[in-house]
Amino acid sequence: MARDWTPDSWKAHEARHLPAYEDAAALAEVEGVLSSYPPLVFAGEARALKADLAQVAGGKGFLLQGGDCAESFAEFHPNNIRDTFRVILQMAVVMTFAGKMPVVKVGRMAGQFAKPRSSDTETQGGLTLPSYFGDNVNGIEFDPDIRRNDPQRMVRAYSQAAATLNLLRAFAGGGYANLRQVHQWTLDFMGRSPWADKFAALSDRISEALDFMEACGIDPATVPQLQGTSFYTSHEALLLPYEQAMTRRDSLTGDWYDTSAHMVWIGDRTRFDGSAHIEYCRGIGNPLGMKCGPSLEPDALLRLLDTLNPGREAGRITLISRFGHDKVEAGLPALVRAVKREGHPVVWSCDPMHGNVVKSDSGFKTRPFDRILSEVKGFFAVHRAEGTHAGGIHVEMTGQDVTECVGGAVAITDETLGDRYHTHCDPRLNAAQSLELAFLIAEMLNLEAQETRAAA
Ligand code: PEP
Ligand code: CO
Repeated sequence: MARDWTPDSWKAHEARHLPAYEDAAALAEVEGVLSSYPPLVFAGEARALKADLAQVAGGKGFLLQGGDCAESFAEFHPNNIRDTFRVILQMAVVMTFAGKMPVVKVGRMAGQFAKPRSSDTETQGGLTLPSYFGDNVNGIEFDPDIRRNDPQRMVRAYSQAAATLNLLRAFAGGGYANLRQVHQWTLDFMGRSPWADKFAALSDRISEALDFMEACGIDPATVPQLQGTSFYTSHEALLLPYEQAMTRRDSLTGDWYDTSAHMVWIGDRTRFDGSAHIEYCRGIGNPLGMKCGPSLEPDALLRLLDTLNPGREAGRITLISRFGHDKVEAGLPALVRAVKREGHPVVWSCDPMHGNVVKSDSGFKTRPFDRILSEVKGFFAVHRAEGTHAGGIHVEMTGQDVTECVGGAVAITDETLGDRYHTHCDPRLNAAQSLELAFLIAEMLNLEAQETRAAA
């Protein structure tokens, strides 16, 4: 257990990107309510995810983490949850087949509400209001009442997270995630996609593998692994009053866990030495992610790893690089080398989204699909050159047919961005783009798998 740590010891540290609440008594009341509510996850599940991630750190698995940039109260609908879950599973099947290793599935779901903002306030037409910090803090409409930071929103976020997680658990274990069914969705989807021909060979091979297994008597009716799947949840541990209120001592081990999600991560803007967010995260037993952007120096990264994982437990830390398509090959190697030299067992994952935001001519914030793909390729190339495992991907995506990122085979253009631009924060890959990216990553994983087999 972490020394000199309590669930509120972060309060003595520098906290950036936390909202200020006008009414301290109202905040304290909400914290009291949340700390009396049931945990959303059980510590044993967080340990199971850590064990899965330890396999990934050892080169024997791949992490797929994805979901909304920011979940919202407005988009809370069973179809949205179902469709994002379904696309994540479809991506995972393609990647499992190509990489010949298990894919650990983690949603940016059931709790991904709070957002760091570059400025505390926003001014429009002479009026200055607090920035939008995510639906668990305030509302997105530019209205003084709605932009007021309201602690009661945390209770609503808890309830939305609980209902979302409940549905995800039901889908994962209740028959919806049947492997045959998931692959059939991909085939149906391909029937109407512009990239179908390009990936037909791979999807045909998956169909054949399933037919072969069925002929041998290995089918979802008899094998539980084909009938359901494990699916975990995650979000950025940004809103510390909420995370603290959800922190519980595990009755089996006596260790502290953040029971708001299986995994939480520390954002690129809050991972500085001595930050309140690092202090909070060092004391919880959950697997942790940490974003690594261009401003992170190798020595600072090693200090952070010593703080967050002094026991060097495999699966505890996932480093999520997010350099930008034109910076990854120059910036990432120094971090990879330092971590390798010091023997820290980490999962290296690639977030090709946050370093690749551009403003389109039509005024929308977007991410060109080409740049996203190019950052992933750069990430694989760096790990190949360094002899380390390219262990995962972290994407902002949705199962809906939105028009937020330009490009991809569906060829979303600047002009069509406005058609279905629904995100509450950053632009997400839509269902077709997500699946296309999965097929392209599958090609990279396939290459890696062939090399590993050749070397064995
Ligand atoms: C995010 O993942 O939504 C995010 C804000 O990322 P980063 O901390 O890498 O900027
Ligand atoms: Co984002």
